[in-house]
Amino acid sequence: LKPDAILFAISQYNLSGGAQKRLAAALEQGSSLPMRLVRMEGPGQPLGAALDALVAAGHCNILVQPLGLPFPESLRAWLPGAIGHWLAQSSGGVTVLLGKELADISDILAASARSAIAHADEAEPASAANMALGKPGWQDPPDFKHHLIVCTGPRCAYRDAASLLVALKDEVARQKVSNDCLTTRTGCMFPCNQGPMVAVYPKGEWYRLADAGDVTRFVQTVLVGGRTEPDLLIHTARLAREPA
Ligand code: FES
Repeated sequence: LKPDAILFAISQYNLSGGAQKRLAAALEQGSSLPMRLVRMEGPGQPLGAALDALVAAGHCNILVQPLGLPFPESLRAWLPGAIGHWLAQSSGGVTVLLGKELADISDILAASARSAIAHADEAEPASAANMALGKPGWQDPPDFKHHLIVCTGPRCAYRDAASLLVALKDEVARQKVSNDCLTTRTGCMFPCNQGPMVAVYPKGEWYRLADAGDVTRFVQTVLVGGRTEPDLLIHTARLAREPA
């Protein structure tokens, strides 16, 4: 079965927008098929939305190619189930092939080593004058009231946790509580089926925020109003249930 499009699923937790564009451009250059790229963790288009977009563009035999140096085993084990979930919800008529771990990964790594050595004369000398660690700006934690921990693990990423992270930061700013909040992202926190989700400490409350309306309500009620929003609450941590 010949694929008519390829979707690269990459695992790289910290990747800037610019680096992602360069990676996509390099893959596009080497691909003879229409292609897309998704990240298994972190911001960007979720896997299911990328498959939807390829189907909407008329593709029906899609090769999903895990890409990492190496691709993590846990994500490799999870990917078939995520694609199965998408297939179960799709309207049918589409075949998704799951590519094997790249066979020539050792060739790629060996080529990287050769290239690094071949271009060593272009390397720039490092200088102690550029010392970055220990600068005063990175000394103290911010004086926050709410620590918002947004899950961007693979299952929440499938449910568009990247958009939640952006929407939450925007709404916190719009409702003028940015200075009260420290927002960080994290890997899987376990209640994946209820994602995308954010945990708020020290309240010890975990919320599912599925759309922009939920985000607005959460910020208004929980962060600005200091109350609990029962409709969105999925969990209360033991420290909040059993205060010392
Ligand atoms: S991936 Fe978010 S809770 Fe598991």
